[in-house]
Formats: sequence, C-alpha cells, structure tokens
Amino acid sequence: MNYHVKDINLADQGRLRVEWAMREMPVLKSIAERFAREKPFQGVRLGACLHVTTETAALMMTLKAGGASLSLCASNPLSTQDDVAAYLAKYEGIPTFAIKGEDADTYYRHINQALDLKPNLTMDDGADLVFTVHSKRQELIPEVWGGTEETTTGVIRLKAMAKDGVLRYPMIAVNDAHTKFLFDNRYGTGQSTIDGILRATNRLFAGSVFVVAGYGWCGRGVAMRAKGAGARVIITETDPLKALEATMDGYEVLPMAKAAAVGDFFCTVTGDIKVIREEHFLAMKDGAILCNSGHFNVELDLEALARITKSRRFIRESVEEYALQNGKSLFVLGEGRLVNLAAAEGHPSVVMDMSFANQALASEFLVKNRGKLDKQVYPMPAAIDREIARLKLAAMGVEIDTLTPEQEKYLASYDLGT
Ligand SMILES: NC(=O)c1ccc[n+]([C@@H]2O[C@H](COP(=O)([O-])OP(=O)(O)OC[C@H]3O[C@@H](n4cnc5c(N)ncnc54)[C@H](O)[C@@H]3O)[C@@H](O)[C@H]2O)c1
Repeated sequence: MNYHVKDINLADQGRLRVEWAMREMPVLKSIAERFAREKPFQGVRLGACLHVTTETAALMMTLKAGGASLSLCASNPLSTQDDVAAYLAKYEGIPTFAIKGEDADTYYRHINQALDLKPNLTMDDGADLVFTVHSKRQELIPEVWGGTEETTTGVIRLKAMAKDGVLRYPMIAVNDAHTKFLFDNRYGTGQSTIDGILRATNRLFAGSVFVVAGYGWCGRGVAMRAKGAGARVIITETDPLKALEATMDGYEVLPMAKAAAVGDFFCTVTGDIKVIREEHFLAMKDGAILCNSGHFNVELDLEALARITKSRRFIRESVEEYALQNGKSLFVLGEGRLVNLAAAEGHPSVVMDMSFANQALASEFLVKNRGKLDKQVYPMPAAIDREIARLKLAAMGVEIDTLTPEQEKYLASYDLGT
C-alpha cells in the first residue's frame, strides 16, 4: 500500500491516542455500527483532506466500516499528528499522505497522491482538495458524485465557485449544520485555541489584555474562554451587528489601530486576509504575542512583519521571535497557522463527535442522492442535524420534554391571542 508518513513506528502510540479520543465519540460510534451492518459505501471511493488527528482517525474508521475505499491527506501543513498518520497507514490500511511540517510542494504532492484514488466523493476542510480537482485534476470530475466541506472558509470558497458557475459537482456545507458550528467553532475552537497559546507560551492570562479579531462563532468561543481565564478581552470587528453583540456581551470593541497599542495577546479568527498589518505591528508593545486560529495563515500579514524585522529566531517550540527594526520584539505562534492545531491537538473529541457525524451522514446522503443534486452548495439536511443532536443528548444522558398534542396544535395555529 502507498503512504507517506513521518515514521511508521509511531503507529502504536497513535493507536492508544485514537482509542482515547473514541471514548468521547459515541455518536460516531453508533453510526459506525449501523454502517458496518448496512455498508452504504460498498464500492465507493472517498478521498479526504482533513486535519490528520485522532478524531479524523475515528471518522476514517467509521467510513471504512461502511465499506468505503479511502485515501487521506492533510488539510494544513502543520496540523498532522504523525503518530495518527502512522496508525492509519499501518493498522487501518488507509493510504495516508501527511507529515507535520511538510513544505508547500509536499503538501500539494500529498493532495495529488490522495486524489490518485480517483474518488467518487471528496471530503474537505478548507476546500484545497476540491479546488485541486477543479484546477489541476479535471480528468477526475466525471467520476466524482459530490463532496463535503468542514469549515467556514471552505464553504465561502465553494459558494464563490458556485456563484461564478465553475463548481462542477454538488457540495454539502457540513460547517453550516447547527450541530457543527454552534459547538465545534464556538466551544472547540474556543478551548483549543487557548490550549495552543498556553502550551506554546506558558504565559498567564490573568491581568493581561487579549485582543480577538472577529466575533463570529470561533471568535465568541475564544473571547469567552480568554475572559474566563482572567484576561481583559478586546474585540475588533467589521460587522456592526457582531460588534454590537460583543459590546452587549460585555467586551470592549475597538478598531485594530487602537487595540494594537494595548494588547498583550492577539488572536485572529476572521477567515479574512491581512487583518493585522504593518501599521498595527509597529504600534504594538514590546513582547506582544500574535497568533491566528482562522483557517488560512493569511490573517497576520507575516510578509509585512518580515520586512520590518531585523532578525528572527525560534525562542521556544512554536514561538518565533521577530526582532523589529524599531527595537521591539513580537512573538508569532505556530507560524501564523491555526494555533489550536499547530501548538495543541485541535478540538476536543466530544465536539468532533458531532462534526464528524455530520461528515459521515453527509457522505451517505450524497451516495443515496447520486445524480439527483445540482452543482451547488447544499446545507446539511435539517433532519440529519436534529438527529445528531438527539443522539448526542442521549449519549450525554440528557432528557428533554416532548410537545403535547395540544402544544403542537397551538404552535401551528394563529387563532389564539390575547
Ligand atoms: N481553528 C479551528 O480549528 C477552526 C475551526 C472552525 C473554523 N475555523 C476557521 O475560523 C475562521 C472563522 O470562522 P467562524 O466560523 O468564526 O466564521 P464567522 O463568519 O462566524 O466569523 C468571522 C467574523 O470575522 C469578522 N471579520 C471579517 N473580517 C474582519 C476583519 N478584517 N477584522 C475584524 N473582524 C473581521 C466577520 O465580520 C465575522 O463576524 C474561518 O477561517 C474558519 O474556517 C477554524
């Protein structure tokens, strides 16, 4: 079998870590059990480009239980857990192409190797796989029935492709399921981003000023957890509604031009480009810590930072010092890539349980609806979203009420008023 991982001897360590993650993934487990009985992916080839983590291993095993032939590559050069990649190649027999720290050429070579499977379904986190199919491997398109997309930035790219009429097969926006973004983006990114910053720096948040750029689902989570750890949190936004919400949630809202001068920590989570730029770097305090938890490493303008820098060095693992020409030093975590995956282990399994239940069921939906969908970006079917919430509550032992027939009738009527 073809694979490219850092060290296949890490497979046993990976196996234990995958086992640990799967303890927290009961919804995916129940889906895997059904897939094993029903084999919805028998004869189906599925190429996946995801962060290669313990939870992704659980997803791959679920799809394999359903009969899928799989290939896997990384969706970010710094997010691969090398022991997990080794485990998947050695013990699960899944062609895996992912090495933490791979350069851009290797990253795209790995994507192409995963595509050599000639997939019927694609599974993305950031749309690099689907974009490579559309730009460099168009010969594969006739055999692709559809694809799924995990994250906000990927969905934005796909919707732009659909709008321009260049999307050549149907996609499902897994990110837009409530059981995904309300939990994964908010609680998952919130906690794991703080985890990454703390592992990288071992700094105290209490008494510090923490600037969060972007008050979307991820930004809300990061702000909430930074505040909980004692930081004074400042939000920067471009959307007046989000800025208003942040203000009423009790945060100070400032433009980056003002926040730059007062922050001790800066974290971008916007999905936008050059959110922190040269004029901001120049205004920052000596010792300020900068990181990003948005999908691509474009939110900090690192090229501009390099231009005003005298010298650079890694002072700790994942912490690069930029000694500026103005005499101050700024510290960039994880090369400006998603800090929760570059410097920690990504989202806790308990939220990925729901995100990847959505991935598994979205892929099954694509198989069942083969040939019936347009070349558009579809939301997750609401019934699947609610079913995942129901399964998760059951697994957590949380009971809820059921509408009485009278309540159902009342909620569907308009004649009863004051
Ligand atoms: N680190 C992770 O594991 C992880 C997990 C999920 C999503 N993501 C990524 O995080 C990013 C944000 O995702 P989200 O779901 O929170 O998106 P979102 O659309 O809910 O929020 C993004 C927010 O950023 C704001 N924004 C845009 N440009 C800005 C600018 N220049 N300055 C300040 N604010 C700006 C927008 O107004 C919006 O409120 C995306 O790239 C997404 O793919 C990362």
